[in-house]
Amino acid sequence: MANLLAKKTMTSLMAEANEEGSQTLERSLGPFALTALGIGAVIGAGIFVLSGLGAHTAGPALMLAFVLSGLGCAFAGLCYAEFAAMIPLAGSAYTYAYATLGEIFAWIIGWDLTLEYAMGASTVSSGWSNTFVEFLAIFNLKFPLWLAYDHWTGLKKAFDIVARQSVHATNPELTPGTKAFSDALSALLAAPSAALIAQAHALLNAPTIFGVEIGFNLPAFLIALVITTVLVIGIKESANFNAGIVMLKVGVVLFVLGLGSHYVNKANWGSDWHTFAPFGVGGIGLAAGLVFFSYIGFDAVSTTAQEAKNPQRDMPIGIIASLAICTLLYIGVAAVLTGMVYWPEINIEAPISRAFLDRNLNSAANVITIGALAGLTSVMLVMLLGQSRVLYSMAKDGLLPKGFFAAIHPRFRTPWKGTILAGLLAALVGSVTPIDAIGKMVNIGTLFAFVIVCIAVIVLRRKDPDRHRPFKTPLVPLIPILGILFNGYMMVELGAANWYRLIGWMAIGLVVYYFYGRKHSKLQRELAGQVE
Ligand code: ALA
Repeated sequence: MANLLAKKTMTSLMAEANEEGSQTLERSLGPFALTALGIGAVIGAGIFVLSGLGAHTAGPALMLAFVLSGLGCAFAGLCYAEFAAMIPLAGSAYTYAYATLGEIFAWIIGWDLTLEYAMGASTVSSGWSNTFVEFLAIFNLKFPLWLAYDHWTGLKKAFDIVARQSVHATNPELTPGTKAFSDALSALLAAPSAALIAQAHALLNAPTIFGVEIGFNLPAFLIALVITTVLVIGIKESANFNAGIVMLKVGVVLFVLGLGSHYVNKANWGSDWHTFAPFGVGGIGLAAGLVFFSYIGFDAVSTTAQEAKNPQRDMPIGIIASLAICTLLYIGVAAVLTGMVYWPEINIEAPISRAFLDRNLNSAANVITIGALAGLTSVMLVMLLGQSRVLYSMAKDGLLPKGFFAAIHPRFRTPWKGTILAGLLAALVGSVTPIDAIGKMVNIGTLFAFVIVCIAVIVLRRKDPDRHRPFKTPLVPLIPILGILFNGYMMVELGAANWYRLIGWMAIGLVVYYFYGRKHSKLQRELAGQVE
């Protein structure tokens, strides 16, 4: 009978962190590259795409949603920093749980992290595709709707286009982006005519298989494959590629803040609490759970701990600096966006570039689209990087097939097989699933990992108080407890459907553990005296 709560000792973890040789990952990352990796993973679909949905959920109080979500991440980030400096291994939260809570929890977290990383990459690939379509539009190129979206999103998009055309035809005096236009559109969509529905299907013009319309997000599929190739080729190449993109995207966000602030109409923020937060505190909580996606990724820095030159010093820098920079930028962007456009009229697919287009700032919108496209690319890169490193760690521990997931490419020194599998999975899911459904699943999965890491800090401080901690989370247990409460609250706000999905995914994971991990676990075999 396996000891489900068996823990890896700190001594064995340290020995692993110090392993050297051609079958190990290459240590090449310094503080700048690590912070850039953090920002690379963070600024992406959340701010450039999901902020639109966030504004529809919280109104102008979207700014507070970013504050709330950022606080939850800050508390968790401080806990991640303590572990990443102390246990510099690629498994991140998975490894921390193995050292503190035991194997079964480690497995649950490792399995859960696929939601964050592989599904995160899928979500972003779908946002990337939206942005790519906007990018093609700069050159007056059109992509067929059925090949640019999953089926449901494509149909919704077709519907939106025909409804907007209809409002414009019947009320030519109304300007898109204004409250009057938004009200007319809502009235039309509340009771769509059969003719409008038929027009939407005609515009979608999707091929059918056995009478069922199909949709396939081709750009999302292809970009996931391109990124996977870069990741297989090497960590240094991946980090350099990332650092260049990060500068571009931070520049674009600063540009949005600088130019956008000139077009803010304060009346759009509302005149009192009810117009500022039209859906109240609940709306802010829900939006926080949604835009939480925009912060995901700073923790991915910890998965590169085995590739950092000086992880003890640089892991905390990478995690905390990337999070702090992004939080400030986000709150600013939320203020500018909700100030530029009356919130119900904020576009859902490309909210920021559309805000500028509606002001006829076409060149600015193009710059934003290009920055967003580059930005989303680097997010996918770091997400898929993180995924392959977690799989690598789990395989080294025997919980997944070692010959596959821990195989290091002799020339590129990357865990290439796991990278390719994760990339293919992300490509497939991203091309057929609506972005909001996967996005919420990613959020609940990541929030869960954050809660566990906060718990793990408290547990290890009690169990092993004297261990050398190169970085210490301040005010323990207060900060981890606040992390548990804030992140737990956002999980609750994501609602029952997402909890069922999370539980379903975990149940599948436990079946895999029962049939594979439990029997092949290196630790279990050591405990049973069966190991070299
Ligand atoms: N934070 C990342 C993004 O917003 C996942 O795209």
